[in-house]
Amino acid sequence: MRNEIRHIAIIMDGNGRWAEAQGKKRVKGHEKGAEVVRDITTFCSIHKEIERLTLYAFSTENWKRPKYEVDFLMKLLDGWLKKELPIYLENDIRFKAIGDISGFSTKLQKTIQDIEKKTLACKGLTQSLALNYGSKDEVIRAVKSLIKQNIEVTEASLEYALDTSMPVDILIRSGGDKRLSNFLLWQSAYAELFFTETLWPDFTPDELQSILENFKKIERRFGGLK
Ligand code: FPP
Repeated sequence: MRNEIRHIAIIMDGNGRWAEAQGKKRVKGHEKGAEVVRDITTFCSIHKEIERLTLYAFSTENWKRPKYEVDFLMKLLDGWLKKELPIYLENDIRFKAIGDISGFSTKLQKTIQDIEKKTLACKGLTQSLALNYGSKDEVIRAVKSLIKQNIEVTEASLEYALDTSMPVDILIRSGGDKRLSNFLLWQSAYAELFFTETLWPDFTPDELQSILENFKKIERRFGGLK
């Protein structure tokens, strides 16, 4: 049987380098990166087999960046989400944030919750943005919530308490580095990993299509034998 693609996760790296290579400010790369998010999401929504696309948009470590860049990303996200609503609705895409959004301004939290609510009835692809997300933080929050509810910590209960329990089938990182950067570590236990030199603003649906085709040829054993 050909491998099923239910969950694709992407570390969108290389925005800053893309902008600098063109003599532009780093944040211009984030702007272009946001456009690519739309192209890739729409492409995934057409592939009915793909249920979820999780994109690493802001990590728990990204607060270390200069205030100017953090502020720019927050503003970009807020405006982008509002503009994106008709695209979600037209394409039957549900929007869902993962991560600890309580770390954001009340205004941004409201925008995130509003778009989640307005796309709740969408039945196609779920686009999940990882926002103030880190895998270690996610696991700690999950364990704490189990303890608070007096639920025994088991593999099943912990998995259920995570922000998302859907296993990742394909994990892609753009920008040339080969690391996971605290992204969906639990969910990616058996993910197939794809690293590309392409900087995120240059990533295209064609490149994703070719990754999907390569994924189909892989023999996945999940620790067992063929
Ligand atoms: C990594 O590039 C990218 C990020 C830290 C943020 C990802 C954000 C976007 C794609 C745009 C915003 C998204 C939405 C949905 C509005 P980098 O800055 O680390 O690039 P570099 O490695 O070249 O410095």
